Amino acid sequence: MSATVEIKNLSKIFARQDTDSTLHALDKINLSVGAGEFVTLLGASGCGKSTLLRLIAGLETPTMGEVLFDGEPIRGTDSRRGLVFQEHTLFPWLTVRENMKFALKSTKQYAKKKDEIDGWLDLAGLSEFSNTYPSRLSGGMRQRAALVRALSVSPDVLLLDEPLGALDSFTRMNLQDELIRLWRERGNTMVMVTHDIDEAIYLSRRIAVMSPRPGRIVEILDVPMSYPRNRAADGFTELRMRILKRLNFAQDVQEEYTI
Ligand SMILES: Nc1ncnc2c1ncn2[C@@H]1O[C@H](COP(=O)(O)OP(=O)(O)O)[C@@H](O)[C@H]1O
Ligand SMILES: [Mg+2]
Repeated sequence: MSATVEIKNLSKIFARQDTDSTLHALDKINLSVGAGEFVTLLGASGCGKSTLLRLIAGLETPTMGEVLFDGEPIRGTDSRRGLVFQEHTLFPWLTVRENMKFALKSTKQYAKKKDEIDGWLDLAGLSEFSNTYPSRLSGGMRQRAALVRALSVSPDVLLLDEPLGALDSFTRMNLQDELIRLWRERGNTMVMVTHDIDEAIYLSRRIAVMSPRPGRIVEILDVPMSYPRNRAADGFTELRMRILKRLNFAQDVQEEYTI
C-alpha cells in the first residue's frame, strides 16, 4: 500500500524559549509526493528537514498552510505513516524479535502479521540474531532491524530522518541498496531526509533541495535514472554538480578545472 503526501504553502514558526523572538523554520513549502514515489529532502543542517518530516508525521502542527495525507489534513500521528530516525529506536530491553512483536502489537496487527516476522528478519539478514539484544548488534544491523520493524507494520508512507547517518560509508552503501530493494518490493511511499548529496541521487526519484533561514525548497530535481543505479554513471556526476551549484558550494569549480 502507498499513499500521497501534499504539502501546501506550509510555514512553521517556532517561539524561541530564551528570547521573545521567533524562528522561521519553514517558509511556504510546496511539495507533492505521489503514491509509491521516493522523494528526498536534501539540505544543510538547520534548513528545516526534520521539522518538515515531523509535520508529515503529525508530530508538529503547521503555523500556516497544510499537509494532506491521501487528500486528508493530518491530525496527529498515525501508524500508516512510519518513522525511522538516525539513531535506531529499538527498545534495548527487548530482543530483535521482541522489538518486531512490540511494533505489531502496538499497532494491533500482531494476530494478523505474526507469521511474517521471520520473513522480515530473513530479509534484513537477521535470522540468526532474532533473540539478540540491540546492544549486541553492529550499528548496521541495528539500523536494518529498525528499518524492517518500521516496514513490518505496513505503513503507506515511510518517513526516514537520516536513517543511515550514523553508519560508516561502506555499511551505508550496502544499506542504501537494501533500502531500494525493500522499497521496490513493498512499493510504499518514501520521504527521506539526508544531507548527503550522493545518497539523495542514488536513492530518490525526486530531490527537494532546501536552503536555510528560513527553510525553503529552492529546487525540485528529477533523477532520470532507472534502478538499480550506478554510482559511477555520468548522470550522477552532472546531478551532483548541479546540486552543489544550487547550494552555492561550487561556483568556481568549473573555472578552476578548465585548462
Ligand atoms: N521544537 C523546536 N523549537 C524551536 N526551534 C526548533 C524546534 N525544532 C527545530 N527548531 C529549529 O528549526 C530550525 C530547523 O531545524 P531542523 O528541522 O531540525 O533542521 P534540519 O533537520 O534540517 O537540521 C533550526 O534552527 C532548529 O533549531
Ligand atoms: Mg534534522
